[in-house]
Amino acid sequence: MSSVEVPREQWATRIGFIFAAVGSAVGLGNIWRFPFQVGQEGGAAFLVMYLMFIVAVGFPAMLVEFVVGRYTERNPVGALREIGSGAWRYVGWIFVATGFVILSYYSVVAGWTIRYTILGLQDGYIADAGEAEAQFVTLASGLDAIALHAVFMLAVIVIVGAGIKRGIELAVKVMVPAIILITIGLAIYAATLEGASEAYAYYLAPEWSVIAANWTSILPAAAGQAFFTLSLGMGVMITYASYLGENRNLAEDGAIVIGFDTAIAFVTGLIVFPVLFTAGVDPADPGAGAIFVSLAAAFGDLTLGWLIGAVFFGTVAIAALSSAISLMEVVVSYVVDERDVNRPTAAVVVGGGLFVLGIPSAYDLVLLDLFDLFADQILLVLGGLLLVVLVSWFLSDLAIAELERGIGDLGWYGSAWIWLARTLVVLVLIVALVLGILDYVE
Ligand code: PFF
Ligand code: NA
Repeated sequence: MSSVEVPREQWATRIGFIFAAVGSAVGLGNIWRFPFQVGQEGGAAFLVMYLMFIVAVGFPAMLVEFVVGRYTERNPVGALREIGSGAWRYVGWIFVATGFVILSYYSVVAGWTIRYTILGLQDGYIADAGEAEAQFVTLASGLDAIALHAVFMLAVIVIVGAGIKRGIELAVKVMVPAIILITIGLAIYAATLEGASEAYAYYLAPEWSVIAANWTSILPAAAGQAFFTLSLGMGVMITYASYLGENRNLAEDGAIVIGFDTAIAFVTGLIVFPVLFTAGVDPADPGAGAIFVSLAAAFGDLTLGWLIGAVFFGTVAIAALSSAISLMEVVVSYVVDERDVNRPTAAVVVGGGLFVLGIPSAYDLVLLDLFDLFADQILLVLGGLLLVVLVSWFLSDLAIAELERGIGDLGWYGSAWIWLARTLVVLVLIVALVLGILDYVE
């Protein structure tokens, strides 16, 4: 333990904190996973279920992370040491480990988005699905992938190393509005495409029969997606809330973050499916890396597809960057808070470690999938579950008092929040964890 004398940094503005949290939430989870889940798992019927999970599971869990961060004003390890006793004191380590593992391979995937942006601008995309696939296999692993993994990591190091106000806040104030505006622009463009109406029908038709037949697998999938897409269970929201000085309305901030994340996810579907349908590319069976295969092939088929594609992949790269800086900040905040290391040094050391840990993923896609499965389905859910249990079952008075700081007396809303966390959120996370472990062991 150390005593850092430099006062801890804080966000300069309210909008800065909200943009940072939105930037973290909006990532590959919105742009790839979400639209394809909706398409495959029952269209509007799935959408309704997903929204229920966002509100009933994601929202209470996000508030738990917010209150822990703002109350302790510490990184996840320090925060849990402060509020937990006994073995609970070590739960923060899970968050730092999760952040470290996820970011190592996420950076590799982000490198691919940079590669595909350049590809569009340089040579355009290949319309033939088989050739597009072969191209992806060549580009996605090996020296090319390692080099771009390094480039992406370097960008993350520079932003996080520059600090909360001058680094992260400044960067997200540019990146997040850009993501929102370009996404809307691309959706308007996509509406003019020939295949648009067919695509909307596929994306939004409520197929209750699909849900009725598969609800046992769809339910946990929707819950897991809700958790992942909001950047929960990674310690991100604890860390970002720890830089909040004033007594802000955390419930309102949480609702705004959730609203933006959901809107971007939904609108991305209005881009992806018209593009695929117009090019006659099958939207089913996305598989690993499919964003780079089927979408690139579809862009290869469209007029000016090289340009639209480059803008699309460029936006994905920006979204990945604004997510990656939040995960890096989890680890860096730990090193800065607890280890008496200055921020730039911490960013370089952590980033260097992440680069090395990501090299196996950049060499072999099978390893990347293993890392991904382990982090998403086990570490993430485990950390989230333990935190929610600790806060809702053992520290509910503290939690309600912290949420009320900035709102005023919550009345029965406060108890409703805690009870939802104690019951539904815990139950859903346990089911997701068990299924995740079974899946991993298989
Ligand atoms: N909320 C992010 C998403 O939906 O893509 C999840 C995430 C992944 C956050 C990777 C941060 C990160 F580095
Ligand atoms: Na998301």
